[in-house]
Amino acid sequence: MTGTLRAELITTDRLTLEPLGVHHAAEMAQVLAGTAIYRYIGGQAPTAEILAARYAAQTVGTSADRREVWLNWIIREQGRSIGFVQATVELEGPTSDVAWVVGEAFQGRGAATEAARAMVAWLRRRHPPVRITASIHPENLPSAAVARNLGLTPTGRLDADGEEQWEDSTPPTT
Ligand SMILES: CC(C)(COP(=O)(O)OP(=O)(O)OC[C@H]1O[C@@H](n2cnc3c(N)ncnc32)[C@H](O)[C@@H]1OP(=O)(O)O)[C@@H](O)C(=O)NCCC(=O)NCCS
Repeated sequence: MTGTLRAELITTDRLTLEPLGVHHAAEMAQVLAGTAIYRYIGGQAPTAEILAARYAAQTVGTSADRREVWLNWIIREQGRSIGFVQATVELEGPTSDVAWVVGEAFQGRGAATEAARAMVAWLRRRHPPVRITASIHPENLPSAAVARNLGLTPTGRLDADGEEQWEDSTPPTT
């Protein structure tokens, strides 16, 4: 089953999570514009061309060694793109590392929480058992709030980029 794991369309009360495609690049370049988004995650606003190249690489879907699957969804609300969620899934293990970004204009309305919850529920259904992890800059309070909303807790461990590792408070036994 794991070899065929692919992002699928997910719907929530308010949002649609569309599997990422290169065709999302132009609209997402507008969603990801500005500087605030990059305060804790680094980098800068991509052009549509850069984003198209990135999305083409991401939609390959697996790492070269085929140990990981990359699942990406564009968050859509009322027919427009507002952000994305992603999961890096171990093919032969329980760990799915998740992340979320919502365009500045669309933040503070629960979109990241709703989208990430739906993604995690999908992962639990499609690729059990699931141990959810996330890497969050210690000062990134909105992202920490989203992680808490998902039931993740901070571990106190920092990675090489200075981001703290968060994980399920009750990881599944395999
Ligand atoms: C993190 C991010 C995705 C949140 O998106 P969002 O749609 O605004 O998130 P939600 O509305 O679901 O939830 C935001 C939470 O942050 C809280 N929050 C917002 N600003 C805050 C602040 N300055 N301090 C503390 N909490 C804050 C909100 O109260 C809410 O928590 P609650 O659900 O417990 O009330 C968005 O801020 C973002 O894209 N940031 C830039 C990219 C980024 O840092 N991504 C995370 C990588 S780990």
